[in-house]
Amino acid sequence: MRTLVTMALPYANGSLHLGHFVEAIQTDVYVRALRAMGREVAFICANDMHGTPIEMSAAKAGLPPEEYVERIHREHREDYAAFQISLDEFYTTHSEENRLRTQEIYRKLVERGSIERREVEQLYCEVDGRFLPDRYVRGTCPACGAKDQYGDACEVCGSTYEAVQLKDPYCAICKDAGRGIVRPVLRRSAHYFVKLSQYQDFLRKWTTEPGRVQPDIRGFLARWLAEPLKDWDISRDEPYFGFEIPDRPPGEEKKYFYVWLDAPTGYLSSTEHWARKRGRTVEEWWGADSGTEIVHFIGKDIVYFHTLFWPAMLHASGWRVPARVHVHGMLTVEGTKMSKTRGTFINAREYLDAGLDHEWLRYYFAANLGATASDIDLSLGEMKNRVNGELLNSVGNLANRALSILWKSLSGKLGLLPGDAEGVDLWHQASLQRASAMQAYLRVDSRAAVQAALAVAAAGNERLQRKQPWKTIATDPEGARRELTLAVNLARVCAAMLEPVVPRFAQGIVEQTGAPLPAVTDHKPLEEATIREPRPLVRRMEDEDVRKLTSRFVAEAPREASAPTPASVPTPAPTSPAEITIDRFAEIDLRAGRVLAAERVPKADKLLKLTIDLGEGAPRTIVSGVAQAYRPEELVGRTVAVVANLPKKPLRGVESHGMVLFATGGPRGLTVVEVGEEVAPGSKVK
Ligand code: MSP
Ligand code: ZN
Repeated sequence: MRTLVTMALPYANGSLHLGHFVEAIQTDVYVRALRAMGREVAFICANDMHGTPIEMSAAKAGLPPEEYVERIHREHREDYAAFQISLDEFYTTHSEENRLRTQEIYRKLVERGSIERREVEQLYCEVDGRFLPDRYVRGTCPACGAKDQYGDACEVCGSTYEAVQLKDPYCAICKDAGRGIVRPVLRRSAHYFVKLSQYQDFLRKWTTEPGRVQPDIRGFLARWLAEPLKDWDISRDEPYFGFEIPDRPPGEEKKYFYVWLDAPTGYLSSTEHWARKRGRTVEEWWGADSGTEIVHFIGKDIVYFHTLFWPAMLHASGWRVPARVHVHGMLTVEGTKMSKTRGTFINAREYLDAGLDHEWLRYYFAANLGATASDIDLSLGEMKNRVNGELLNSVGNLANRALSILWKSLSGKLGLLPGDAEGVDLWHQASLQRASAMQAYLRVDSRAAVQAALAVAAAGNERLQRKQPWKTIATDPEGARRELTLAVNLARVCAAMLEPVVPRFAQGIVEQTGAPLPAVTDHKPLEEATIREPRPLVRRMEDEDVRKLTSRFVAEAPREASAPTPASVPTPAPTSPAEITIDRFAEIDLRAGRVLAAERVPKADKLLKLTIDLGEGAPRTIVSGVAQAYRPEELVGRTVAVVANLPKKPLRGVESHGMVLFATGGPRGLTVVEVGEEVAPGSKVK
């Protein structure tokens, strides 16, 4: 079977950071497992070169955008190589292939009557001489009145809106450049829209077919698809770094494709570039009848683009649609969002320059990532424990102990496997574990695959410890040799199971046993062979290694953001909030509340209106920004933790009184804090 695997195309606007490597490592592990199973795989990626932030960064760096992105492209390529990301192609969206494919898809959409041109009013900064995309205008939230919110959504109440709805809008570019408050003006401009609702039926079917997306993602999609999809604006005005929209009416000023049209098209055009180099065609790999299984790996922030826009574009233009879109969660570092000011924003290059082993990170991510889109936390202490306790002391030691004794005391020769029932069974169990690990990799559950490998190592170590061949060697050298041969063979199976995760580690076993890793279907042990001199398979992670990264966490001064995301100037904060006294904590009136009813807040896709019994006689209304994590009916009937003494606050026309507590994380991203139904509403939580 032929599989085409992609990961999201990183913006060529700054260095790759460890968050990017959650995705790169997860995807690479999947690809390597497929290859080990004998599949024909193409692993394709590229840099996403276009858009306003890149155009502005290039201008700031005083470089033509083409030159600016080219530098970053080279750096990204090196970073992926250093982490052994086994890409078959790492191309660019600023290519002739991509320009032609983007035009082709656009023209197909035109042919199908899916494109509409209409005049819209947009915010325009007369100082900068440009229209202000959502992230470049801030103002007061029209729903809750919070100040300094972006043009697309309020971070305080979670409402989404159009930039023109902001109250007292100001140009964020001018503000961040120290030019003070500059009021944008409304200006008319022609824009091109995709009428996405034409593809609603197709998308409903595509998103619900088995295996397309993980179950937790399917829930989101069903909610998005329950209402008619809004038209999608795919055009941008000058200045813009991107592809010009063709076939426009005479006299119209230049228009460019919005980056999110040509970015996913980059998957297709990069595949084309790769296929052509090898004398093949893109149709063989991406044609509607190619039979290829197309699998995209992405983070949960870009689900909308990949599960609604992109399949619709492919469907409209007659290309093959993806078989599967796998979504992973976001990386946090030591429990909080990566932050430049806290120093927890770690670039891939900084990790390597600190002398840390890239396989430690591969192992840690793979051992922690399951098949759901839960967020993943990088805790360096846990990383050290897992690397040393599992990779080194369990798998590594099984191999190293056995090989060392064989090398030193038994002239480096393997014997036969032991013939006792337990030994035979152990060998058989290892084969079964291996098969289950391969299945886990196919489900993108590397955590389960790693667990299976550790189970084999644990069983091998347990037997070795019990049989003590290092003691019996004097009296029964051949018996000892057979024990050690079993240990070496179990270590080979472990190495084969972990090869997608830690390929260099596995290669060490190959070199020291002088034999390739057993193929997936091969259950024959390696017997009576000669081994090579053993050496450690991976370096131990020391406290000093942990300190190399953690030492910068609080102390480091805020660095200049490499991406010009116009955020408000962050204040330096310690890694966790300061200590408080118990009296301060007691100021919070925490209570148990029973959710009596729940409904969506119209036109606010993040908000739920909850009716909650706090034992006060009349229930309260509390608005929570969790509509993307819970369906209303899922919360009804639960007894939850509520902060009861917050002032009343209007949110989207609903008066909210109090706050329901949610933990960050879990398969939904947010998990409600429940106190158990046996607790009466109104009970104090302390
Ligand atoms: N250029 C777009 C993708 C276009 S795909 C046609 C983009 N680029 S990105 O550089 O911002 O992100 C690339 C990938 O890295 C995304 O899948 C994103 O989810 C992932 N990650 C970026 N930061 C991340 C974390 N902190 N944690 C985990 N993954 C993260 O989006
Ligand atoms: Zn301005």
